[in-house]
Amino acid sequence: MTTDLPTLRKTIEDALRHYQPEQSATSQSLIDAMRYASLGGGKRIRPMLVCATCTGLGGSLADALAPACAVEYIHAYSLIHDDLPAMDDDELRHGLPSTHVKFGEATAILAGDGLQSLAFDTLANAPNVAPAIRLRTVQLLSRAIGWEGMVGGQSFDLEATGKRLSLTELQTLHAAKTGALIKVAVQIGAVFAGTEQTQPEAFVLLSEFADRLGLAFQVIDDVLDVTQSTEVLGKPAGSDGKAGKSTFPGLLGVEPAQEMAEALLAEALPMLSRIGLQHNQLAELANLAIVRDH
Ligand code: IPE
Ligand code: IPE
Ligand code: MG
Ligand code: MG
Ligand code: MG
Repeated sequence: MTTDLPTLRKTIEDALRHYQPEQSATSQSLIDAMRYASLGGGKRIRPMLVCATCTGLGGSLADALAPACAVEYIHAYSLIHDDLPAMDDDELRHGLPSTHVKFGEATAILAGDGLQSLAFDTLANAPNVAPAIRLRTVQLLSRAIGWEGMVGGQSFDLEATGKRLSLTELQTLHAAKTGALIKVAVQIGAVFAGTEQTQPEAFVLLSEFADRLGLAFQVIDDVLDVTQSTEVLGKPAGSDGKAGKSTFPGLLGVEPAQEMAEALLAEALPMLSRIGLQHNQLAELANLAIVRDH
């Protein structure tokens, strides 16, 4: 059964809370920081992608919640580390002090580590699914966020700071730092629905759809950094320019960057049509990921 997006978001919020520890005999500040970073806001695009893909392909929403939370815990960890002084040095996230501002740098680093571990714990213990599905998604997620995916992209991002990248280089950077997690969110939803095994061609199409969506998502993130206020974003506007980051609006201009994201979406949506998902929640989410103000 498919619910509307606000209801789905609420279901995900509850699940994110459910898998979190509340009390710790070893370090309560660590738990408090993990909860602060993962329960305190955010659009929840990635876990909604996991759920919408899974249910769109005939899988169960209840089964999709554990992997959806796993992906969002990874995202929350990545944002804690991304905001650190050693990285983007941003002091605001979701309209609140960044985790390191609130809890100190050391606790923030450890809270990121703790969330990464919680993500794999949650995924590896997902209820109601065959062990092969858990193993396959652990493989996909670990690959997507590692040295050739998200973390590799973050490293490339830091190395590229102050340099002018080519369009192709910037595309590679964005596909890794942001695209990889968005892509794997869709893939995990498909694996939980059983689609990778039973309809491998649909799995390939969904992966290609998600490649484009992931890249477009970061292009829009770059655009919003230039066009929106800190109040609307809930994070410091103009942060990329201040830090000397290579961005799509920086390279192409704001409007061409916006058009590029729209063109990627226009390329991606027909891939959903080819597997009968064009009127599905997944298409709705893809539009929402690109047409947004924060
Ligand atoms: C921000 O992602 C960081 C990127 C990878 C672009 P989101 O815009 O999805 O962040 P929240 O969770 O909704 O705040
Ligand atoms: C963050 O990209 C990517 C990851 C956290 C992996 P940005 O640095 O552009 O994200 P924001 O703008 O701070 O949310
Ligand atoms: Mg960054
Ligand atoms: Mg940042
Ligand atoms: Mg950004």
